Amino acid sequence: MDKKIALLKDKINQANLGGGQARIDSQHKKGKLTARERIHFLMDENSFEEIGMLVTHRSTDFGMEREKYLGDGVITGYGTINGKLTYVFSQDFTVFGGSLSETHAEKICKLMDMAMKNGAPLIGLNDSGGARIQEGVVSLGGYADIFYKNVQASGVIPQLSAIMGPCAGGAVYSPAITDFILMVENTSYMFVTGPNVVKTVTHEEVTSEELGGASTHATKSGVTHFACANEIEAINHVKKLLSYMPQNCEEIPESLPYEITDESRIELNTFMPQNASQPYDIREIISSVADTYSFLEVHKDFAENIVVGFARLAGRSIGIVANQPAYLAGVLDSNSSTKAARFVRFCDCFNIPLLVFEDVPGFLPGTDQEWNGIITNGAKLLYAFSEATVPRITVITRKAYGGAYDVMNSKHIGADMNYAWPSAEIAVMGAKGAAEIIFKKEITTAENPQEKWLEKEKLYSNIFANPYRAAERGFIDEVIEPSQTRIKLIKAFKMLENKVVNTPRKKHGNIPL
Ligand code: HXC
Repeated sequence: MDKKIALLKDKINQANLGGGQARIDSQHKKGKLTARERIHFLMDENSFEEIGMLVTHRSTDFGMEREKYLGDGVITGYGTINGKLTYVFSQDFTVFGGSLSETHAEKICKLMDMAMKNGAPLIGLNDSGGARIQEGVVSLGGYADIFYKNVQASGVIPQLSAIMGPCAGGAVYSPAITDFILMVENTSYMFVTGPNVVKTVTHEEVTSEELGGASTHATKSGVTHFACANEIEAINHVKKLLSYMPQNCEEIPESLPYEITDESRIELNTFMPQNASQPYDIREIISSVADTYSFLEVHKDFAENIVVGFARLAGRSIGIVANQPAYLAGVLDSNSSTKAARFVRFCDCFNIPLLVFEDVPGFLPGTDQEWNGIITNGAKLLYAFSEATVPRITVITRKAYGGAYDVMNSKHIGADMNYAWPSAEIAVMGAKGAAEIIFKKEITTAENPQEKWLEKEKLYSNIFANPYRAAERGFIDEVIEPSQTRIKLIKAFKMLENKVVNTPRKKHGNIPL
């Protein structure tokens, strides 16, 4: 037995070394952690149990039968994060550049099946040169098997992808199907084709960082939800994100213990600027209303005219969608609509109630928006809110104009409670524009058109630049003092905690994509 145990230990040591010390050193020199180190920092201490440590590839072309590494470039297993069961795979760049072979894919698929059966989140730590070139089509098949399982798992268990190195070719599509992507500045890249292919095909000269680095995808494409300064920050973000989520779609997120004390926020009564066109940062209202330091912004640097993220209210996890008057006056455009729609759908999948702060002058006009499909993209947000069955509450802080009033979780599309601050203006459009259209004749024929315009603007404003017309109809449930927002929301979400909605039987809807 001693000899047999010694053999086992030898194999474990071999597996722990991945592609060997020289390649581990090279990984460290690039400022990257190894696959095992990442797992060590991610999982609760001593909780990780590895599955498939001794798996090797089956390839025989190009002399591959002589080059085998235990584990075949991916470490798979389970453990706990914040005390909760979590499945993780971590690609090992020291073994064939973390490339995906048939067996590497099988290991990931096996883990995904377990995560699904046992209803727990799946975390992918990606660091891979893509399909294992020596294996040809079986590697492509392996990717497709993963994509298929990603889709089956979507909406059943949370799936998070941290990109810790290259992620090229079709490999980007598994992360893209998962719920959230996190990238690391300067050491991680995502692209369908790298700079060399780009140069050959389009003659563009571009670096990997410009083409598919973390800040490119955080600001330009919106592919990544987080751009992290380093790997440890990315790992900590994964843990924090998970803390707002349930284990699976059958559960509700865990509440933190919380005692309700004096919940008024008196400073909000004087927060709103005197002038309705003056910007303010909606994040200040969010921070004042949510539990202290509980707000985690998602997709922070993309489509900044809308803010989305997780927070807690009296210990309960909520998803927040808020127009941002500090950026493009909080207007809705294609990118902000798509960003918010995806977030709303995530929250709805996983029983996370939605809170909307609304201050929106409308949809952004112009050829750029129309030609880029603002109609289809705006419809995504409308669709996402309309189909969401979680508790949904809206607070209109200032402007709620035009179609954006309808879209931003209005009563008409199924919101449960709609509040407005006394500063709310709920109308088809701003008073100036409205007056110009409906009193056009009177203004143009007046002795002093400018004066007439101002007079008519005032008239329209007196009638509609307030929340009371909407409250008279019951479109607004209550006009509240800003200082009372937090306590009203705590009570209303508590009232809605057992909400049930029976939806019509169908295969699935057809969200405008
Ligand atoms: C096999 C690979 C590999 C791959 C890298 N390696 N990529 N082995 N298959 N795809 C190996 C290298 O031979 C090398 O082995 C080691 O990994 C490290 O690679 P380096 O090139 O030395 O590292 P680096 O300079 O950091 O460059 C990393 C890289 C580059 C940017 C990822 O290796 C690269 O461009 N690889 C190819 C990427 C690619 O085109 N993949 C296929 C995409 S198509 P040694 O023995 O020296 O350590 C695809 C289709 C999927 O994925 C479709 C699904 C729908």
